[in-house]
Amino acid sequence: MVKLSDRMDKIQPSKTMAVMALAKDLKAQGIDIVDLGAGEPDFPTPEYIRDLATKAMADGYTKYTKVDGIPELKEAIALKLKRDNDLNYSPEQIIVSCGAKHAIYNAMMAVVNEGDEVIILSPYWVSFPEMVKMADGEPVFAELDPKADYRRTLKPFEEYVTDRTVAVILNSPSNPVGSLLDDDFIAEVIKTAREKDLLIISDETYERITFENKYKSIAAYEGGNEVTLTVNSMSKTYSMTGWRIGFAAGAEKLIKAMSKIQSQVTSNANSIAQKASVGALNGDQSEAEMMRDKYWERRDVVYEGLSNLPGIKVNKPEGSFFIFPDVSAHYGKSVNGKSINGSVEFAEFLIEHAKVVVIPGVAFGSDNNVRISFAVPKEEIEKGIERIGEALNLLN
Ligand SMILES: Cc1ncc(COP(=O)(O)O)c(C=O)c1O
Repeated sequence: MVKLSDRMDKIQPSKTMAVMALAKDLKAQGIDIVDLGAGEPDFPTPEYIRDLATKAMADGYTKYTKVDGIPELKEAIALKLKRDNDLNYSPEQIIVSCGAKHAIYNAMMAVVNEGDEVIILSPYWVSFPEMVKMADGEPVFAELDPKADYRRTLKPFEEYVTDRTVAVILNSPSNPVGSLLDDDFIAEVIKTAREKDLLIISDETYERITFENKYKSIAAYEGGNEVTLTVNSMSKTYSMTGWRIGFAAGAEKLIKAMSKIQSQVTSNANSIAQKASVGALNGDQSEAEMMRDKYWERRDVVYEGLSNLPGIKVNKPEGSFFIFPDVSAHYGKSVNGKSINGSVEFAEFLIEHAKVVVIPGVAFGSDNNVRISFAVPKEEIEKGIERIGEALNLLN
């Protein structure tokens, strides 16, 4: 008999599994499903990046590398952080990991003791609380205010801090709400972090997918640099989700600790993907910009479309490729005697009656909402919205 650790009781299985299983079943039956659940770009990785990987392999670049990344990639990252974010980091302050997810996990393991609290803005990306728990910490949720377009928390930030708080995770632009945090709010977080000696972990994975407003890194705000670990990724900007390259930049002491952990768990990130990432960061950025422009166009379509549906409240995403409508006005209604009382039941209703897949908001900490991805072609979005509209008419 296998005996599992107590830790396993604390970690949540994915709340979206049932919905995804239902969608899979219907697809397998040949039913035409509009899948708006995607968590990754629908574009292929740009050809010049794939060619660089082919070359790296042909050149025999297939062995272990330095744990914290090949020097030329760390240099390219330092250059990127200077060019795009106006941040100065030396190579010793940078680590390359197997995705941003891995970098954040390393950071959790490096700074969280048992019972320590980590503040997470809610709605949140699903992995944040689970990673805190894996490090034996306690996630503390600071609710973002939907009336302020999720740009700040409901209460002043300081009120979420206790004697046990060691860190806060910011994610702007956010998955799932697509908001950018307010300058004032960021200043408030930095001030509190400096006063209370907290680490800000800034997950900037969607930094390059922003629309009207240009992104400013948290570490670039006044006083932010010393208290922030800047995390970013190749995954979304360059449509390289499967390549597993992310990175973090911050205090040398923290980066060294993260490298120590990584050295005993995964060693380096994939050597071929690292080599190709150098060219991706240093090369022509027009494909990344083209993808961003496409998301922007789709954002307008999905926002317009949802705004016109009855009982749907929606904020306008300023970045990422997600929109997070509040559908709770429909809770308590039913179809064919089956009532809808939460985001899972609403998502199931959409699969059954609209043949559209969305992700229940409860997975991200908000049961009033569902997450819709616009990392899908415009025509699919239009079709999905039309179907959702028709299905809503069935509710009474
Ligand atoms: C907010 C956020 N951070 C990190 C990641 C994961 O990035 P990576 O592929 O670099 O691990 C995702 C992916 O969905 C994300 O939404």
